[in-house]
Amino acid sequence: MAKRSAPTGKPKTEKKITRYTYDDIKEPRTPETGHTPLLPAEEQMVTLPMDSGWSKAIHVGKLPEGDERPVVVDMDPAADPVLFWAGKRNRREVPVLPLQRNEIVSESRIAQIIERARRAAEEQSGAARQGHLFADLEKTLRETDRKKRVEFYTHEEGWKNKLICGDSLHVMESLIHYENLRGKVQMIYIDPPYGIKYDSNFQQRVDSTKNDEKDAADDVLTIKAFRDTWALGIHSYLSYLRERLYLCRELLTTSGSVLVQINDDNVHLVRALMDEVFGAGNHFATVVFNKTTGFTDQRMSCVYDCLVWYARDIEQIKYRQLYQPKAIGLEGSGNYRYAELPDGTRRQLTDEELEAIDRLPAGWRVFRLDNIMSQGEAKEPQPFEFEGKTYYPAANSHWKTTVEGMRRLVEKGRVTAVGKRLYYIRFYDDFTVSPINNMWNDMGRSGFGDAKIYSVQTHTEVVQRCIAMTTDPADLVFDPTCGSGTTAFCAERLGRRWITCDTSRVAINVARQRLLSATFEHYRTRNGKVSGNFLYKTVNRITLKSLAYDLEPEKVELVDQPEVDKDAIRVCGPFEVMSLGRYSVEDWKGYVVREAPAAYGEPAKLENYIEVICRLYRKDAAIQGASGLVHAVAETEKEKIAISVGPLSGRVTAKQINDAVQDALASGILEVHVLGWAFEANVGEVKSALEKRGKVKVELIMIRPDTLAEGLKATQPEMLFSPLALPDIDVETVKNDKEKQVRVTLKGVALFDRKRRTTEYKQADSGYVSAWYLDEDYDGDCFVDCQMFFDFKKTPNIKAALKAEVDPEEFTLKLTSEPFPVRGYKRIAVKVVDVYGNESVVVRDLS
Ligand SMILES: C[S@@+](CC[C@H](N)C(=O)[O-])C[C@H]1O[C@@H](n2cnc3c(N)ncnc32)[C@H](O)[C@@H]1O
Repeated sequence: MAKRSAPTGKPKTEKKITRYTYDDIKEPRTPETGHTPLLPAEEQMVTLPMDSGWSKAIHVGKLPEGDERPVVVDMDPAADPVLFWAGKRNRREVPVLPLQRNEIVSESRIAQIIERARRAAEEQSGAARQGHLFADLEKTLRETDRKKRVEFYTHEEGWKNKLICGDSLHVMESLIHYENLRGKVQMIYIDPPYGIKYDSNFQQRVDSTKNDEKDAADDVLTIKAFRDTWALGIHSYLSYLRERLYLCRELLTTSGSVLVQINDDNVHLVRALMDEVFGAGNHFATVVFNKTTGFTDQRMSCVYDCLVWYARDIEQIKYRQLYQPKAIGLEGSGNYRYAELPDGTRRQLTDEELEAIDRLPAGWRVFRLDNIMSQGEAKEPQPFEFEGKTYYPAANSHWKTTVEGMRRLVEKGRVTAVGKRLYYIRFYDDFTVSPINNMWNDMGRSGFGDAKIYSVQTHTEVVQRCIAMTTDPADLVFDPTCGSGTTAFCAERLGRRWITCDTSRVAINVARQRLLSATFEHYRTRNGKVSGNFLYKTVNRITLKSLAYDLEPEKVELVDQPEVDKDAIRVCGPFEVMSLGRYSVEDWKGYVVREAPAAYGEPAKLENYIEVICRLYRKDAAIQGASGLVHAVAETEKEKIAISVGPLSGRVTAKQINDAVQDALASGILEVHVLGWAFEANVGEVKSALEKRGKVKVELIMIRPDTLAEGLKATQPEMLFSPLALPDIDVETVKNDKEKQVRVTLKGVALFDRKRRTTEYKQADSGYVSAWYLDEDYDGDCFVDCQMFFDFKKTPNIKAALKAEVDPEEFTLKLTSEPFPVRGYKRIAVKVVDVYGNESVVVRDLS
């Protein structure tokens, strides 16, 4: 263990810790794990129409009569070409599932570290600090009126950003139908797999970007996504992307934008696809930006990626112009090749001077000669006297200003004559920036916040620019391809609200840790709220017009450069971690890998999910006779067991266990086995309570993460299933002068050994724990991260940012929590994330 360095007293310039919240923006209250209100049965499946007129024109199928959603873009297929591919459909049925809140993150790890460093410093100096930093915020997040808490969607609460584990298609439908976000998203950034090398988007471990081929990764959802989604290569890819783009269109507000990141292999297809979905007239720009690695095969190296940008409605698009320093000299464009010297003389610069333009002597003002005429004949002749000679505008032209204005320009030394013509003198410092265009070749230069933590990670500068150009502070940004959470990170940095999702638990955990270990500059707001906008740096723009009419120079706001409050440092605001709610029984039926596509155009699917899982668990399991949440019954001479299977994308809830037990008891079965990929935190408690109450026996069984990934080869059930294994913790009482406190130590984590196919307990310090989180007062529904522990030594220069003396040990994985008082529920929960992104939770009663 690293030696604890003694705090060196209170830092001289201690920074205020801030974070942005959005309580003034309301959203419907979402159910917490265990509460699953579903839409009425007939609304649980919606039709996604994907038809811009092409199907009518070529008679490949029609939307059903009376479909309420209109044909989305009025296109004429005879005039607007569209792409066709195997399996292209004009509609699709999509299940609509509620999103559930599993976890609330109220404060950041960094905030905790700062808090501790300060407390240590104050203790040393004899001062006492009361309470902890964000206690108030945590209190509000927890203490919402209990009654309202269960009336989901009918009550509103302050906005919280969202990190969602789930397939983007389902997540988007949920955002539209349950969360009421149709037409509310200002910008969507999509960085999908590029439609090449389909397995390259996959990261096995939270703590490494390197994949080990021998280690068949654990992330069953991602594996399912690959098997399911990319079976027909580019054909599947186009279907995948188009479905999601149609849903993006529904989420976007009328002034919104969608940007798709793609490389030059498929950019042509993506543009055609987006023409079809958004209408060709809504193409706003295609940006190219430099990437660090090019292909090194036989072809010419490709050094850029693209952003294909469409407006929801080009007439109404919100577009904020960004500027970059104006490039001058030999490298720069434009004709800034003259200078005015301090003694007032003006001359052309030499090539040597142009080459070293940023090193010209002090007082030299660089300028260019600009046109002083505009096109179009003046009504009357416009003679103008300058230095004893009379000048006229060229044929079919007029002066850009009045004759009086011309005189003022001359007074201000802004006119010169070259040959028979007059020119306007434009100094470089009249306006030192120029609008950015669609070629960004300076990306990834700052490197800040860009330490590579995900195998396919976008430069923060790229996403940040996109957000700044398309949104204002507090606007909502969505990224259905979260990965390492670059969009959420940039949105957080720029004070935008965000939602992001990913099928991969590894990605979700990488993103979570990235956000929790981040610090940001604190930007000054205009009225104390982020939604009231920031104060921005400005640059003066002196123009021919402002000089000619004696006007104050225009102040141009640099909306990507908010004013920074140097006395504060900001951490990530609160967010919630969500997943798709319980799948309806109908939906569960659809999964298990079929070996090969049965027919061209029909991708391989997971079929009969429940049946296959039940049969793998007990060969003799009979599906007949099962009802409700008892999915199968296994009966031998000695025993009769009801089997209930949890959803593929979600966790087994307390409610499922309860319902399955009730359904089993109704059929006279006294033993229930509930199988799942993941379990809600309080299932251990629920099991004990049910067993205490009646004669029923409940077993909770983990399905091995790679069960489906192995293509369901005949494997012994004992290798595929094991009793739910919970993290091993120790709770000790700590005596304190004022109150009784407790402290939690993480001792071990249960890990699946893939070679031996058994579950083994690993020591907490054996390198398998990626992070652990503690809820000091667990209410049985929603996990609130009160203390969090992970390893982030590599975070850039945090000590300098904090200006505080921080114990280096704080940046490594600590295994013992800070002491805390026993609170209202007298119950704690500990969540452990292993390096493969698997989460397990243990609840401990303290009464
Ligand atoms: C190219 S990566 C995005 C990387 C991200 N821009 C970053 O900076 O880290 C694409 C991500 O999309 C996720 N993904 C692929 N298909 C998905 C789906 N159907 N739903 C949700 N996420 C999906 C993958 O798991 C992967 O993490």
